[in-house]
Amino acid sequence: MIPQYLVDFDLKTMPSACTDVVIIGSGIAGLFTALKAAETRKVTLITKRELMESNTRYAQGGIAAVMSEEDSTAEHVEDTLIAGAGLCRPEAVQVLAEEGPAAVRELMALGAEFDQEDGRLALTKEGAHSHRRILHAHGDATGYEIVRALAAKARNHANIKLLEHHYVIDLVQDELGCRGVLVQRPDGERLYLQSTAVVLCSGGAGQLYRYTTNPEVATADGLAIAYRAGAVIRDAEFIQFHPTALCYAGAPRFLISEAVRGEGAVLRNSRGERFMEKYHPQLELAPRDVVARAIVSEMEQTHAQMVYLDITHEQPEVIRHRFPTIYETCLSYGLDMTTDWIPVAPAAHYMMGGVRTNLDGETNIPRLFACGEVSSTGVHGANRLASNSLSEALVFGSRIVKRIKELAVLPEQVCISKGNGSNGYDTGRTAEPAGDLAERKLNLQKTMVRNVGLRRTGALLQEGLEGLKREQGIFQAKLETAEQLEFANMLTSSLLIAQMALQRQESRGGHYREDYPERNDEEWRKHQLCRRDQQLLEVQSV
Ligand code: SIN
Repeated sequence: MIPQYLVDFDLKTMPSACTDVVIIGSGIAGLFTALKAAETRKVTLITKRELMESNTRYAQGGIAAVMSEEDSTAEHVEDTLIAGAGLCRPEAVQVLAEEGPAAVRELMALGAEFDQEDGRLALTKEGAHSHRRILHAHGDATGYEIVRALAAKARNHANIKLLEHHYVIDLVQDELGCRGVLVQRPDGERLYLQSTAVVLCSGGAGQLYRYTTNPEVATADGLAIAYRAGAVIRDAEFIQFHPTALCYAGAPRFLISEAVRGEGAVLRNSRGERFMEKYHPQLELAPRDVVARAIVSEMEQTHAQMVYLDITHEQPEVIRHRFPTIYETCLSYGLDMTTDWIPVAPAAHYMMGGVRTNLDGETNIPRLFACGEVSSTGVHGANRLASNSLSEALVFGSRIVKRIKELAVLPEQVCISKGNGSNGYDTGRTAEPAGDLAERKLNLQKTMVRNVGLRRTGALLQEGLEGLKREQGIFQAKLETAEQLEFANMLTSSLLIAQMALQRQESRGGHYREDYPERNDEEWRKHQLCRRDQQLLEVQSV
């Protein structure tokens, strides 16, 4: 049983501080929401590493929004719904497509600069988009440009306090809802930070898998924290595997953007044959799950560890200008993409499900909001349309701030800090977490790849769950370091994903079951929800 809190604590005796809004995470969702909230509220932004480190920082492809006259809101909605494979919330998709362009202009007003062509925004195309609608920056450094601009503003904002290298352990609640967070400082001391609202912007789950395009920070902390607090988790089984991550000895699974295929790159198997025509009429720009599984099939048929991405027909100067980061990174491993095919394989990339919210980003716990990858707004359904995530964070971040501004600022929680009703929590944990944590983490990541990966079966999932459950002793141990807390969060989120994947007996979007290879709308056009405090795993019709 996963406990409500990872550590024992007593709010009456521990140091505490007050703020209006706590933001957890410093990707686009955290930074943008913080800057908007800080127009009228005192904000504390907590991040477990440096301010600039997040999944957003590594986003290459870009940000999807209807910015040209040839495109339309209706077509953006349509493309998103098709990608989402019957599980999107249409109202949320409409909100994203309608409010996306204004949100992107707001981002530009905050200093983010996107690439231009002939005096207009340069727009590219990615898989399953019917139009060129992806803005990008410095070719393929879109995420870096966004966090550069937003982090610079956040650093100098009088109403924003930044807590870098701080780790949020758990949410604190009373009868009014979420009242703040329990935080571990870099020196190990713990603090109760009280607030009027908490916004989880803690990003995704790629690091639950051994092979991922995500940086080390993407350990699904927010999903686990929200689950422990009793938030409803929706559709966690839907994990998107990016088809083309660099697969080369000694190199990390560096993302090779879909935009490379958008600009004409083709996939070849290890025999040099183009193969996507066997799998989908949209060829290399078919939905990501289709391309990723096609790649794995080709790898199996040719007994190879990878396939190849070939853009060598393009002019070298065009490649260097459009994809400078990818070009330089490949070159640093001895691969010149202007003349060499790039070896690639699928890797975990994005979590479609997450903490369920309404259209204002509110969870079922009053005063707790979720934004960005950790949230399940209903935009992505079973499979995210490429580049919708950055715009989703902006649109729903804005909505969250509007809602927070309607909330009364709560007085300091004297009820808790002065001991008017004890919130002391002591389960007498004493045992040290057993075993080598680095090894346990690697085992978890291998289990997730092998048993809860791109192609799943009931037997594999069951075996994976059993393996994960053997780690559950960590929940009873006395956790002291951020690494231990992080591992407990990784385990919690992995268990949720595996359990929901086992229960969904069909294939849809990012969830593929070899033992149930068809989409089954009659029985499974449904969401899965789970909630710790009700021990609940239920399905709900769309
Ligand atoms: C990419 O550049 O291929 C990733 C874009 C995304 O995942 O939205």
